[in-house]
Amino acid sequence: MSHHLLLIVHLLGATVWVGGHLILAVTILPEVLKKKDVEILLDFERKYEKIGIPALLLMVISGVWMSYKFGVGFSNWFHFSNPIETVISLKLILLLITVLFAISANFFVIPKLTAKTLPLMAFHILSVTTIGVLMLLLGSFVRYGGLSF
Ligand code: HEM
Repeated sequence: MSHHLLLIVHLLGATVWVGGHLILAVTILPEVLKKKDVEILLDFERKYEKIGIPALLLMVISGVWMSYKFGVGFSNWFHFSNPIETVISLKLILLLITVLFAISANFFVIPKLTAKTLPLMAFHILSVTTIGVLMLLLGSFVRYGGLSF
């Protein structure tokens, strides 16, 4: 698959993932916290996860595929030995943290979500949203040669 087509798939995924989480964090979460109404949040989550999870999977597949096209394969990850690999390794670490938050939310927080535990869910939402925006910012460095500390 051409790099350009992979990038288009990656950007479509990013619009759904980052856009969806920004809408959740900025417009839905404040209303949920004000009204202490967990149903509003669960209703959004039910609708959004149908497109959110496939978007994340598309970004991981297209992202890793593009990484290989940049010559950064599995054996190079987490060496921080060149600017492009540094971006990719940082994104993989942020992806792992996102997956841990998703597991925590889906198996521990959402099943017993009440008005009392809403702040914990809010922490999950704000963390995953911030990480998503960071992933977007990091990705934009690749076209400028990557990131060197
Ligand atoms: C929430 C997850 C992610 C988001 C929101 C995201 C977002 C982005 C964005 C906005 C770009 C910039 C594209 C451009 O410059 O036009 C990008 C580039 C890139 N991303 Fe991701 N990304 C995510 C996950 C990943 C993962 C898991 C990998 C794999 C290791 C990855 C690898 C790459 C690569 C290699 C590029 C450079 C593409 C290029 O400039 O040709 N991304 N990403």
